[in-house]
Amino acid sequence: MAATTTRVSLCTLDELPHGLGRAFDVGGRALAVFRSRGGQVFAVDGKCPHKSGPLADGMLIGEQIVCPLHAFRFDGTTGACDQESVCGIEAYPTEVRNGEVFVTVPVA
Ligand code: FES
Repeated sequence: MAATTTRVSLCTLDELPHGLGRAFDVGGRALAVFRSRGGQVFAVDGKCPHKSGPLADGMLIGEQIVCPLHAFRFDGTTGACDQESVCGIEAYPTEVRNGEVFVTVPVA
């Protein structure tokens, strides 16, 4: 059976700083959301799987989200980690429409 998802409005694109993260709570799910210089938006789990670093306090380099604690990197599109010993994180589809940012997350 396919997982059910919901699409949620987060904020306006202008409310996301370039290269820095912002934390959101979507239905009890902590998200870290980033905006690239090119206007692409990435939404991933808010907690690093290494030692629970707050990813929203990290930064975006290219399409890589850098954890603020030990600088492990996560792909903003897939959530894959650059360290073999650490599993990846969940990455969520985003969309910008008329200057508004939406994210699609699973429904619990
Ligand atoms: S807590 Fe994120 S890299 Fe260590």
